[in-house]
Amino acid sequence: VSLKNFNTFGVEAKARYFVEISHEDELAELFLDPMWQTVPRLILGGGSNMLFISDFDGLVIRMNIRGIEHRISHTDVFVEAGAGEVWNGLVQYAVQHGYAGLENLSLIPGSVGASPIQNIGAYGVELKDVFESCCAFEIASRTVKKFNKADCGFGYRESVFKGELKGQYIITSVKFKLSLTPNLSLHYGAISQELTNRGIAQPSIKDVSDVVSHIRVSKLPDPSTIGNAGSFFKNPVIGADQFEKLHSLYPEVVNYPAGENRVKLAAGWLIEQCGWKGKVVGNTGTWKNQALVLVNHGGATGTEVYALSSQIIDSVYSKFGVMLEREVNMIQ
Ligand code: FAD
Ligand code: EPU
Repeated sequence: VSLKNFNTFGVEAKARYFVEISHEDELAELFLDPMWQTVPRLILGGGSNMLFISDFDGLVIRMNIRGIEHRISHTDVFVEAGAGEVWNGLVQYAVQHGYAGLENLSLIPGSVGASPIQNIGAYGVELKDVFESCCAFEIASRTVKKFNKADCGFGYRESVFKGELKGQYIITSVKFKLSLTPNLSLHYGAISQELTNRGIAQPSIKDVSDVVSHIRVSKLPDPSTIGNAGSFFKNPVIGADQFEKLHSLYPEVVNYPAGENRVKLAAGWLIEQCGWKGKVVGNTGTWKNQALVLVNHGGATGTEVYALSSQIIDSVYSKFGVMLEREVNMIQ
């Protein structure tokens, strides 16, 4: 089965086996056959955070469990959505109903089921800020378990599902705790700036969603026309000592506090300073408006994109002594 239409980088790769799951019972049935316990497995949502470096010689499990339910308790709104729901569809559902909490995460591509994997985040909000719990199918026991927030080990672009429990669970649904009384997060500079530009002093949930969507469209390439998977690298977090040295050499280095004695750098800035922004390398390159986003200009292979990412890592390391880590999942 070709995976070209199942990954937003739009690279060609073939899966040996492919199955689509529309109900959690189908997972229990699937894994009754011991063969699937042993072959390599890949759980696929929207394919918007992965790069296929080769064909996948195993079973691809495409999550298509649908459904959105909600329950209101005082001013809290508990919304539970199937793993296969489209993330931005859920965000727009919440915005339209006046349920606050997801608006800053508007327009992030992909599925609900993938959202806890890297604790998606944008414009000052992370999934963990609105996450209540999730249900996940444990492959070894063929049972569904519930994970509360404390079980998930959420960090910046991190969770237990990417870490110690990698490959063991398939998320089937996610429950969010939203609110009827908005407590808007407007501290991200670009949001307040754009609200001011629009003359909006008392923004609604929808205003915030619209503004975030507008900012994103202006910076990020649309995967339906230019293949990409968003930020290719994480923003690196370094120690205060290393930061002081860097800062004395490059006073304009873009940085944010990241806890005690830790500083987060903008990887996009580091990459741009190395001369990569908007550069075209064969069929690949970095995006003209956001150097952190690697793109497929058409016909690129996963290997080509990977090779470019390695060159960028080397170049940033030799200029700044900072090692970039890939954020996108490499699949081979
Ligand atoms: P996939 O790419 O299909 O999978 C990602 C990983 O999760 C894989 O390891 C996969 O095996 C695993 N997985 C998927 N579903 C499940 C499941 N149900 N159970 C267990 N494991 C699963 N991310 C951000 O955090 N913030 C952003 O602002 C952002 N902007 C983006 C902009 C663009 C243009 C693009 C293309 C991507 C962006 N991303 C961003 C990355 C991406 O949208 C998120 O990582 C998203 O959560 C991926 O969802 P997906 O369904 O496409 O996951
Ligand atoms: N910058 C540059 N040059 C560039 C790109 C960025 O100098 O080419 C500078 C900008 O000027 C700005 C800073 O870097 O001062 C940060 O840029 P931006 O606001 O675009 O955000 P980011 O740190 O590059 C992160 C997330 C995005 C998320 C945005 C908004 C990571 C790895 N990326 O990007 O997430 O949408 O913040 O919150 O944390 C993704 O994960 O795929 C993704 C797009």
